[in-house]
Amino acid sequence: MTLTGTPPAVGTAVGPAVGPAVGRGVRRLDGRVKVRGMARYAFEQLAESPAYLHLLQSTVARGRVSDVDASEAEALEGVLLVLTHLNSPKLADTSDGEYTVLQSPGVAFRGQIVGCVVATSPEVARHGAELVRIRYDEHPHDTRLREDDPDLYAPDEVNASFPTDTDEGPVEEALRSSAVVVDQRYSTPMEHNNPMEPHSCIATWDESQERPTLTVYDSTQGAHGVASTLAKVLGLAQQDVRVISPYVGGGFGSKGLPHAHNVLVALAARTLPGRPVKLALTRQQMFFLAGYRTPTLQRVRIGADADGRITGLVHEAVEQTSRIKEFAEQTTVVSRNMYAARARRTSHRLAALDVPVPSWMRAPGEAPGMYGLEHAMDELAEACGLDPVELRIRNDPPADPETGKPWSGRHLVECLRVGAERFGWSRRGPTGSRRDGDWLVGFGVASSTYPGNVMPGSVARVRYGGRGHYAVHIGAADIGTGSWTALNQVAADALGLAMNRVHLEIGDTALPMATVEGGSSGMASHGSAILEACRRFREEHGESPEPGATTESAAAEHPEAKEYATHSYGAQFVEVRVDADTGEVRVPRMVGVFSCGRIVNPRTARSQFRGGMVWGLSMALFEHSIVDHRFGHVMNHDLADYHVPTNADVVDIDVSWLDETDLHLNPLGVRGIGEIGITGTAAAVASAVHNATGIRVRDLPITPDTLVR
Ligand code: MOS
Repeated sequence: MTLTGTPPAVGTAVGPAVGPAVGRGVRRLDGRVKVRGMARYAFEQLAESPAYLHLLQSTVARGRVSDVDASEAEALEGVLLVLTHLNSPKLADTSDGEYTVLQSPGVAFRGQIVGCVVATSPEVARHGAELVRIRYDEHPHDTRLREDDPDLYAPDEVNASFPTDTDEGPVEEALRSSAVVVDQRYSTPMEHNNPMEPHSCIATWDESQERPTLTVYDSTQGAHGVASTLAKVLGLAQQDVRVISPYVGGGFGSKGLPHAHNVLVALAARTLPGRPVKLALTRQQMFFLAGYRTPTLQRVRIGADADGRITGLVHEAVEQTSRIKEFAEQTTVVSRNMYAARARRTSHRLAALDVPVPSWMRAPGEAPGMYGLEHAMDELAEACGLDPVELRIRNDPPADPETGKPWSGRHLVECLRVGAERFGWSRRGPTGSRRDGDWLVGFGVASSTYPGNVMPGSVARVRYGGRGHYAVHIGAADIGTGSWTALNQVAADALGLAMNRVHLEIGDTALPMATVEGGSSGMASHGSAILEACRRFREEHGESPEPGATTESAAAEHPEAKEYATHSYGAQFVEVRVDADTGEVRVPRMVGVFSCGRIVNPRTARSQFRGGMVWGLSMALFEHSIVDHRFGHVMNHDLADYHVPTNADVVDIDVSWLDETDLHLNPLGVRGIGEIGITGTAAAVASAVHNATGIRVRDLPITPDTLVR
């Protein structure tokens, strides 16, 4: 296994689907139209005499709407519609509380949609919204997550269908008899997804045909998922809902599912048939309606022998969900198989609060969970007097501790070793030993991990268009990651063509079904479908097909996938400098080494790893949605007050990966790269801060006040 710090030479990858395109750092095919402003995002799609929707949001955190006076708004010139629970069309399915919009006067969180004003211009809609008088019966609310909340409960399962709790071996006994025990609490705050493009859509309801149809331009990670959800909620046949989404300005999980605003816009469109209704959430509205990462309260207990071998591991998490829909972040799942241990227990408990609906945010589960676990590992290394890299190597399990299955490719140890070398880890000094003028200097390390996911159900279509040109169709999304380009690379190689002979179309439910661009599963799922459709096309139509020749196929069965435990790994090394007087933390240097199976496009892959690491840095030092519990809303609900890193905060990020092809999971040999970069990073920063200052900051983010004593 060799290190690939630079794009590999043409054709160095091995296995099927090899060709001149896969493995090459091809520039984004959509880059040119984007930088020239020619790419149409959802809100910018052309619509004839559109109407504009402005939200009415609850000003109380719990209660019911007792009175609505819309008369002044309705009298305003240009206002087409004021919609509230009093006059909304009924929904066909109300099983999902998040999508059950305007069906009752009930209010379950502050900022919940209680109505909207639709008008001929956005300004009039907004003005009209200010004129609607809504009165509430306000009930006492609770938005505060507490470890001792008497109403904590165990959900039936946690996100991605993992068991809520696991219990293997006599863990209490193991901890009691351990030479060294770490028992600490860690917390991560509420954080909000903020893709550059806000959630936006245009919906048009058409009743001119025999059956009503709905057409939606949406900013989404999965057009087919939006269509099936809207069809169900609105009582339409799925084929009568078309969702189009060619360009998406970031998703990060918040666009992995539709949200309440999508249903609202569809309801408004239904009330104004034939008229396109447009909505772009404001940045502030996104803090109520686009999902967020739950705060987590974690307790980690790890026992070890004197030589650092883990005897027992307990990881417990307390987190929040909303009252209208359950989302259970899988925070402690990482501790089920990250390290060897003779006994272990993991659990999740939820508090249902008067808060907005939490949802997916880049590496849900792994991101907060790896913070707790990896910070505890750093503390264990200190307690054992061991180097934290060596501690992790000593506890590398030979097979999946949870299932006993062999690893499809576990290369954590290589990542740690290569990363230590690239970073210069051997120069790390004892805690609090290095000072450079006003700055205390420290090094830190943590592991990264993310499961290799493949979602079944995607279909690709290949059609020969004549003159050597092929169309490849799949309803997948490119949310800015480069998947458009990378999928094109896969198709070109699979058809044995130059990339400019392949014309890929994505982002439309008129194209064959594709699963959501989430769980870092896009390339494994959509790429495998394209690979198989291309293979079958060549089999069916040969090298000289007739123009119009078409083949459609799902990915080939890959039964071997079930026999392996498939996870990606990485190691992150961080240097911090902490101002001895002010507690300001700077991060001049980060090194990340990853093992993620084959890398289809090194250029776009590097951006994914780097973006993940930047976000991990952000999680460590900046991000924190602060709730005003008196009123139940996030106070810092804009990008002036919700802090994220800027270029000045992100100095030298060195990203590399192991040259690897993992054919156990899918025939492309990929394991996905979108989310792993954010995992472990915050623990590496916390580890470095401790190395610099001797201070353990266990509650994120590590702000200057936590370091000034
Ligand atoms: Mo990702 S949070 O699975 O879209």
